[in-house]
Amino acid sequence: MFGLLFGAPKKVCDATLADDSGIGAKPYPGSSVHPSRRIMRNQVLFFSDAFSKPSMDELIPRFLRSLEEHCAALNIGDEWVERPDFYMFLRDVVFPCGVNSFYGKSMLGLNPDLEEDFRIFDENIPFLATGMPTWFRPQAARYRAKCLAAMKRWRREAMRQSEKNPAPDTAEWDPAWGLGAIRRRNKLFAATDGLFDEDATAASDLATMWAFTSNVIPATFWFLFEILATENLLGRARNELQGTRTDAGIFDPTKVINAPLLQSVYAEVLRLHVASLVTRSVKQTHSLDNWVLPKDQYIIVASHVEHRDSYWNAVDASNKHHPPSEFWAERFLVSEEGTSKFSLEGKQGRWMPYGMGEHMCPGRHFVKYEMMLSFAVLVSVFDIELLSPGGWRPDDNLARYGFGAQPPKQKVKFRIRRRSDGKTS
Ligand code: HEM
Repeated sequence: MFGLLFGAPKKVCDATLADDSGIGAKPYPGSSVHPSRRIMRNQVLFFSDAFSKPSMDELIPRFLRSLEEHCAALNIGDEWVERPDFYMFLRDVVFPCGVNSFYGKSMLGLNPDLEEDFRIFDENIPFLATGMPTWFRPQAARYRAKCLAAMKRWRREAMRQSEKNPAPDTAEWDPAWGLGAIRRRNKLFAATDGLFDEDATAASDLATMWAFTSNVIPATFWFLFEILATENLLGRARNELQGTRTDAGIFDPTKVINAPLLQSVYAEVLRLHVASLVTRSVKQTHSLDNWVLPKDQYIIVASHVEHRDSYWNAVDASNKHHPPSEFWAERFLVSEEGTSKFSLEGKQGRWMPYGMGEHMCPGRHFVKYEMMLSFAVLVSVFDIELLSPGGWRPDDNLARYGFGAQPPKQKVKFRIRRRSDGKTS
């Protein structure tokens, strides 16, 4: 996939395939891969650095500030304006704010077309994954090449800047590279003895950018859509947000992501709108009920199937039935000493938008912040009303089945105005 989707050179794809050492600190027994070629292990090391507590303490406030600045600068006044496509509107907010919080302003500053080029590249991901000759759809390779060129431009400039002004190795933020983890990753690339040349690092940088933006944008769309489309839910969600501000009136990200109703909506949105395929190969023959999973067999677990299983049938306090196909904001709330609490208790292994086990998505904590903070800032600054018929919701665009959060298939019209008491902080 690294080659098909992101244009990684063949030698890197071959090295990735040959890496049978697993992701643990100790290679799998029998693996003879050189330590510098433990590509999957290196990926894990990078993401654990990027999403470590000190790094998140840098990343989250940056994301929040970026959202606030972006919303303040949007040319939307206190009169309603109608817009044709809510998904595109959110994409134009979440993508630049995510990129700026990860890389600083240099990535988009050096590459003003990247947002649009990346959007078209991302739309072509299902095609690129088929492995069909790219002349079937020249646009796919053309926009990927533009994105790869943007990654190279950014990397050359970052290297120039950091030679002039090197930041301490342990710094969580580096003005040249963005997150300190991004610069520290260069050591892992350099240790591969030339494997990660300029083309390979560009492919790797593009894959990283894709990982941290492509799923979050549709997930954030559904978070806002479901709240706006469900009767009385926006008011309750806004009330809950009131309690998540600090004394200074700014959002406390930790309080936002721990708000019970918002967490339940978050889990429900991912249950309904994520279609991930969790793939594994069997290391030792296993028996499971009447099935035998032979050694070396590839297996796939589809979150979409698990998330619509009859297990999810639920009945609320007033005896109303909520089938698995329905969005029910309260599905993950439990009553405890008279208050509602969010809980995944008993649902482990059933709720699996991020996969399972040692390969579980390393970006999941950041996703939660991104989705909830985007909601919090947008609905505090703006009034937003959907103009779609009541009870209607767009379909999931299953062209991206298997890749995670599904974008909407149809456009959603909406109207928006700045709130009179609209403040970002
Ligand atoms: C709504 C958003 C997201 C969803 C639904 C999602 C889902 C997934 C799933 C299902 C997997 C496979 C897990 C497994 O095999 O058990 C995965 C892996 C991965 N995700 Fe995410 N993801 C999201 C966002 C992110 C973000 C923001 C990042 C990071 C910047 C990220 C980075 C990764 C990486 C690096 C892996 C590979 C992990 C490994 O193989 O060890 N993802 N993700």
